[in-house]
Amino acid sequence: MDIQLKSRVKCIDRPVGEVSRLILSQTTREITDMVVRLDANGREIVVPVDGNTSVRPGPEVVLLYPVDRLEGMPGFRRGDWEEVEVAEFAPHLHVHQGEVLAKFPEAERDLSRRRFFFWASNAIGALITLPLVWPVFKYLIFPLYKGFDNAWVRLGKADRLPAADSPVLLEFTRTPKEAYMVNTVKKTAWAVKASPDLLKDVYKGDPERVFKEADGQPIWENKGVEYIVYSGKCPHLGCAYRWDETDKRFICPCHLSIFKLNGELVSGPAPRRLDTLPVRLADGQVEIIDAEYKAGEHGKKRIV
Ligand code: FES
Repeated sequence: MDIQLKSRVKCIDRPVGEVSRLILSQTTREITDMVVRLDANGREIVVPVDGNTSVRPGPEVVLLYPVDRLEGMPGFRRGDWEEVEVAEFAPHLHVHQGEVLAKFPEAERDLSRRRFFFWASNAIGALITLPLVWPVFKYLIFPLYKGFDNAWVRLGKADRLPAADSPVLLEFTRTPKEAYMVNTVKKTAWAVKASPDLLKDVYKGDPERVFKEADGQPIWENKGVEYIVYSGKCPHLGCAYRWDETDKRFICPCHLSIFKLNGELVSGPAPRRLDTLPVRLADGQVEIIDAEYKAGEHGKKRIV
């Protein structure tokens, strides 16, 4: 006769509880143990089904030893057991799925614990190696995300701009670093030693006077300096433009945008006035921050 779930369980001296689950051997498909829920405290213990187990009608299971012996039996831990497919393993038991268990293979038993140790040891390893790899990682990744280059670049001695309101084309060399590529490029800017009227005219607006970092923080204001420097690139599509001394106009030959000395657009397809640059006088040298602004847009949007 098979042990039935919910059978009353008693030892030779007194009743102890009832059968709450059955445990099968995966190989023989025989019941090897039963889980007994104790009446005294509701605790579940694993009790072997062997020659000392007698199954009787009722249903009832009699353990042929005194109740004291149960104290040495292991407690039931659900994680140590897996459900078996009742229909496949024990069709004769008339039990529900989840009520019949089998022992986990030893290798899988402590899987969650082993997983924990696996991840914990990896995390500790990462913490130990992070200080070593961080400088290399920073070196590789930082150039991709750094802010604008706000270094001051020398255009030349101020005495190259002797006459007020007479623009001079100045060349300078830059070695921008884009990610890991370093290039040397020749660039130009139009510099003007400005009369007070021209200074007032040009620097009356914030975009011409105040310069900002990518995050919007101001980095420089063209204040108290008697020079104006325009980017050498036309704000339409970036062509180089020239100064026409006769008409006192800047003229871009690409699409014929024309600008006044104060940078304002007179005619042509350019969407905005000429781009002023941060400028200062240091040790008798005119210096600029070589900012670049997106061509073809109305607003002055810094890109380099
Ligand atoms: Fe100057 Fe087009 S690039 S007008």
